[in-house]
Amino acid sequence: MKFHRLPLSAAAILTATALSLTPAAAAPNSGSSAVQHAVTSAAKDAYSALPREIKDNPVVKDHAKNLGLVDKPAPRTAPRRARDCGNCVALTFDDGPAAPTNRLLGILKDKKATASFFVTAPNARKMPKTLQRMTGHGHTVGNHGATHSEMTALSAERVRGEIRETNDAVESATGTRPHWMRPPYGAMNDTVTGVARDEGMAIAFWQVDTLDWQHRDPQRTCRVAVDQAAAGHIILMHDIHSTTVDAAECIVDGLRAKGLEPVSLDHMIPAATPGRVYSHR
Ligand code: NI
Repeated sequence: MKFHRLPLSAAAILTATALSLTPAAAAPNSGSSAVQHAVTSAAKDAYSALPREIKDNPVVKDHAKNLGLVDKPAPRTAPRRARDCGNCVALTFDDGPAAPTNRLLGILKDKKATASFFVTAPNARKMPKTLQRMTGHGHTVGNHGATHSEMTALSAERVRGEIRETNDAVESATGTRPHWMRPPYGAMNDTVTGVARDEGMAIAFWQVDTLDWQHRDPQRTCRVAVDQAAAGHIILMHDIHSTTVDAAECIVDGLRAKGLEPVSLDHMIPAATPGRVYSHR
């Protein structure tokens, strides 16, 4: 948060308000509650009319809070979170859940970071508790197909089957149906994106490919993820490899050292459009 110096006029309004609300300033025994109510309401109006950067100044905010001028904040909504997400990046992990996934979830929890997991139907059915842990920790669970087939080689009907089977498996584990998918190998054509759109699925491609599955070198995975990431990017990894999980702490720390914050896809892109392909925000 930026700290702004408080302009004199705003300070004057708040000081005047403070004085008008102190018990000494209220007329004794003279229907003061109606007066007080009117003053409070005027002061509330004055406070709410202040420019946002003054209202958000911690000194002003504190003062206004003590005076009862701040209404309960509205619940945090997805669009507001998105506005606060200028430095976000999305770590994504495909092909699991598998044995190393639970260790990864522990590391992300310790680091208070969130990510996204593109799971296959059989693995989702094998590890429902791991999927529940993902949603419980604020991660996004996405769809990586049922049979890890190249969807460009399949009919529309079979693509639909791949998507629905995996959505069913995730929903029966977590109670929530995915709305993000990543076709295996990133293989897409108009049939795949069309079926995805019809099934309400946004498509997550990637901006940074760590090639973690190929080299299996934690230091290299970390270096590529951190060096190539910029705000809004989607980063591709695979949680079926323990060497990738070995890189997780280094990646989160490295991204934060660059001023980036790893978050889930639902956090970074809260209102994703079905059928649209995202490689970054
Ligand atoms: Ni895959």
